[in-house]
Amino acid sequence: MRVLVTASSKHGATVEIAAEIGRVLREHGLETAVMPLEDVTEIAGFDVFVLGSAVYAGRWMGEARRFADRHAGELAAHPTWLFSSGPVGDPPKPEAGSAVKLDDLITRTRAREHRLFAGRLDRSRLGLGERTVVRMVGAADGDYRDWDDVRAWAGAIGETLETALARPAT
Ligand SMILES: Cc1cc2nc3c(=O)[nH]c(=O)nc-3n(C[C@H](O)[C@H](O)[C@H](O)COP(=O)(O)O)c2cc1C
Repeated sequence: MRVLVTASSKHGATVEIAAEIGRVLREHGLETAVMPLEDVTEIAGFDVFVLGSAVYAGRWMGEARRFADRHAGELAAHPTWLFSSGPVGDPPKPEAGSAVKLDDLITRTRAREHRLFAGRLDRSRLGLGERTVVRMVGAADGDYRDWDDVRAWAGAIGETLETALARPAT
């Protein structure tokens, strides 16, 4: 069983979450490739997908939306999990219900689950336009990623896949 963990990231926070998910899945003995979405040229040969994106203005990044659209059929035919990295601050904002709407994508990819993780906002990495938006909405600067949350989620996926592998083929 080969797992692909891939994510679209603008400023690096989301690919680091993907890397941590990959580490946990490998600890579960799963053959796991981790790569930024722009490096994925071929998805044939993978049996499980964990696909993520940073959230900007309430949406996944365009590259991630296009990838999911293009491969929706293959994703739907395999176990697929989705994740997003977005809300910042303590408590994180926007709140879970309004950070990103992925209902359509979840339906089309038949994703087992979508998990929203808190993100990182580092003003020093942002362009002028982004800084203006961030100032306007009063978003909090800082790294709010919760690595225990990420590892727990990845661990649950690892256990699900281990159980599937242990089940005798019928
Ligand atoms: C201009 C701008 C708009 C953002 N819009 C949202 C948003 O609508 N919802 C959200 O949850 N997070 C939003 N964020 C926060 C980012 O998604 C978060 O910081 C994320 O972890 C960044 O990931 P990246 O470093 O991989 O690009 C926004 C950040 C910026 C700079």
